[in-house]
Amino acid sequence: MLLITGANGQLGRCFQHLAAQFPALDVHFATSSELDITDKRSIKRFFQQYPVKWVINCAAYTAVDKAESEPDQAQKVNVLGVKYLAEACAEHGAKLVHFSTDYVYHNRHNLPFKEDEQVSPKGVYARTKLAGERAAMHVHPGGVMIIRTSWVYAREGHNFVNTMLRLGRERGQVRVVCDQIGSPTYAPDLAAAVFSIIDRTEKQEIPKENTVGIWHYSNEGVASWYDFACAIFEISGIACKVEPIETIDFPTPAQRPPFSVLNKSKIKAAFGLAIPHWRESLAACLGERIGS
Ligand SMILES: NC(=O)c1ccc[n+]([C@@H]2O[C@H](COP(=O)([O-])OP(=O)(O)OC[C@H]3O[C@@H](n4cnc5c(N)ncnc54)[C@H](OP(=O)(O)O)[C@@H]3O)[C@@H](O)[C@H]2O)c1
Repeated sequence: MLLITGANGQLGRCFQHLAAQFPALDVHFATSSELDITDKRSIKRFFQQYPVKWVINCAAYTAVDKAESEPDQAQKVNVLGVKYLAEACAEHGAKLVHFSTDYVYHNRHNLPFKEDEQVSPKGVYARTKLAGERAAMHVHPGGVMIIRTSWVYAREGHNFVNTMLRLGRERGQVRVVCDQIGSPTYAPDLAAAVFSIIDRTEKQEIPKENTVGIWHYSNEGVASWYDFACAIFEISGIACKVEPIETIDFPTPAQRPPFSVLNKSKIKAAFGLAIPHWRESLAACLGERIGS
């Protein structure tokens, strides 16, 4: 069985939509009410009850700014919960796929980050995500795949695309930061890549050991949040003026990295992935909305 935790989140729902395309994977979706990853006993019970071979952990505390005032809750979910899942996987010989964030990098850099580059997380969310990665790899060194991703959005969920669409329709003008540079990630692209890696591993096309370690995944291409907003309005045909502003003009409780583009050479080479450009995937996402 392949267990997906946090199944009702943005990424979790994308796995739900895609599962039918991977019939060989026996997927069980657990929402936060069915399986709370911070409840060690529930995890133990679940693993005793079901023959779990893989876990894809979509459960996380993701409120980046709120985490500054709720550090204990962020720590509990992003570190302790992840550690409990990794311990259960280690005990039962299962593999854990876990998601982390580009926010672990916070350097004045101008080249895409490789997986072995120095991390320097700022803020509670980023620090707890890094601590969660480390806790999982510590307790289950041979069985954890960490995927650092960035600027995730999907048709459903709280994300930048949905916020811009709402504000663009309500206001006619928005101000968006132009000095934070990264790469958007369309959650269905990421979910499809992960399902395909697991499916091919199960079919022994990829050795199990090859999935271990830290990997980067985002869509191809680079953008500022300003560029991203302009593209959202252009593709969706919403007449909204976008004013570029600097981070200093839009203070938030948690600091975001000025540059967090991820180098994806490793995951592309290891698994032969073809990753779409962010504009192509954004058009697919918006086209799906218009079509519905
Ligand atoms: N969103 C981004 O831009 C972004 C960027 C980089 C990395 N990531 C990472 O990508 C992953 C998926 O993010 P997402 O955007 O899908 O997040 P999301 O939409 O906020 O979903 C997180 C899910 O985790 C669940 N959850 C929270 N606490 C839990 C607990 N104790 N036990 C079980 N489930 C719990 C939530 O359930 P409830 O709905 O019931 O609260 C929610 O369904 C996360 O690891 C995140 O850190 C996200």
